[in-house]
Amino acid sequence: MDQKKLFIQTIGCQMNVYDSERIARILAPLNYETTTAIESADLIIVNTCAIRQKAEQKVFSFLGRLARLKQKKPQLIIGVGGCVAQQEGEKILERVPFIDVVFGTHAIGRLAGMIKRVEKKRCHLVDVKLAAEIDAFETLQDFRNDGKITRFVTIMQGCDNYCTYCVVPYVRGTEASRHPDKIIQEIQDLVACGVREVTLLGQNVNSYGQKEGHGSFPQLLVRINAIPDLIRIRFTTSHPKDLSTDLSRAFRDLDKLCKHIHLPVQSGSDRVLKRMNRKYNRERYLAKVDELRQFRPDIAISSDFIVGFPGEADQDFEQTLDLIQKVGYDSLFAFKYSDRSSAPAARFSNKITEKEKNKRLKILLELQDEITVKKHRALVGSTQQILVEGLSKKQAPIDNPKPGQDSGRQQWTGRTSTNRIVNFEQEQPSQTQNRNFTGRLVQVKIKKALAHSLRGTPVRIESQSITLKGDHSYAA
Ligand code: SAH
Ligand code: SF4
Ligand code: F3S
Repeated sequence: MDQKKLFIQTIGCQMNVYDSERIARILAPLNYETTTAIESADLIIVNTCAIRQKAEQKVFSFLGRLARLKQKKPQLIIGVGGCVAQQEGEKILERVPFIDVVFGTHAIGRLAGMIKRVEKKRCHLVDVKLAAEIDAFETLQDFRNDGKITRFVTIMQGCDNYCTYCVVPYVRGTEASRHPDKIIQEIQDLVACGVREVTLLGQNVNSYGQKEGHGSFPQLLVRINAIPDLIRIRFTTSHPKDLSTDLSRAFRDLDKLCKHIHLPVQSGSDRVLKRMNRKYNRERYLAKVDELRQFRPDIAISSDFIVGFPGEADQDFEQTLDLIQKVGYDSLFAFKYSDRSSAPAARFSNKITEKEKNKRLKILLELQDEITVKKHRALVGSTQQILVEGLSKKQAPIDNPKPGQDSGRQQWTGRTSTNRIVNFEQEQPSQTQNRNFTGRLVQVKIKKALAHSLRGTPVRIESQSITLKGDHSYAA
């Protein structure tokens, strides 16, 4: 049978990145091999996001651009999956009639069957059924060593929190957790293929396993922490209302757990938090931050904010700015509120104008930039432990950072445990030439603070001699 080419376009969050990897693996037995050249594809899968109007627009503009390809190559199969597919179902076919397959967020396990049918019968298929139980995650097997050091691992699906602005519970279904044994097995397989850091994914990992009686999230972390050759564990996202003392303590007790937590607060105003249905207030949030810092004083904290939620008054926004100052975030994401028709806030009164949202967003981001720059500058001169992820895309040398002028030295990139990006190059290439730093822990002396990253020089490579499946080795 001929090899066929599969092109996957992923729009949206890390969960979609993980799902796209699942899709590639599920379609491999049908003889589909992934490609980055869209023109050569026999099958194009678009994995979509509905979180804000902008994300949805991006999906439809991408689909629009596929019309030309489909005209040139009528046998091309186009599938649309993910959150917009789930939300729109058959309606997508009215808007973009040349789509062959629409598969929702719980239909990934059935995708291979759908593609097979379309290949034979050239029909249009739609599957947007949502089930209460966990989707067939078991299909993730047979990992290949593709050189990746960090990988995502989804540990649960759906969300039961119903924040009033959010589409996720409607497009991802109710919360359900994977069995811990399956998660452990998957991470062990990834580690055997060279992965050294995993990021556990869930809309609210803090409530992992509660419904199923699978044990708590901190208990899962303890088991993952014991996996040999795994170096680091990260997770996202934590809903502040469910952040337990046990989880905060894990940052002190588990050596592989990175010193970083993403703890989305959304707003600093109690009035707004109530209307968002977040189920905590500013005082409780600040108390959780305090507790985290008691267990782990050097923990980095990041967050998500929504500006211009319906009815957000100037005083509410002031409260948000005040909270940012008080917490002193290491980084944050801020979004302009966007109406989602399935979410209740779309019908709230006192909508904020686009102009005002833009103004607030700019003020908020400028405040955080000041805080980040200060934190970055304070690190200059210190030595940080970096897990190297690979060669940096940009290879400008640190002593001559003009783009296009390559020093001939390779620049490596990695992150600190606190999730800061650090780039470095070899000081004396003659001594260490051709050394592969990928997957290594390297002590880097920080020389320069930039807005979104740090630069430095390596002072020590921590010896890691790890044998990988398939005869690969990172021996020192
Ligand atoms: N489960 C995660 C968030 C997932 S969505 C949590 O509870 O934190 C990621 C972020 O998108 C949210 O934290 C929120 O800041 C933002 N977001 C969600 N819906 C939005 C909307 N309608 N408009 C603007 N931002 C939104
Ligand atoms: Fe959306 Fe709230 Fe669930 Fe996060 S916790 S996914 S913001 S409903
Ligand atoms: Fe988007 Fe769906 Fe993720 S709406 S943010 S892709 S869960």
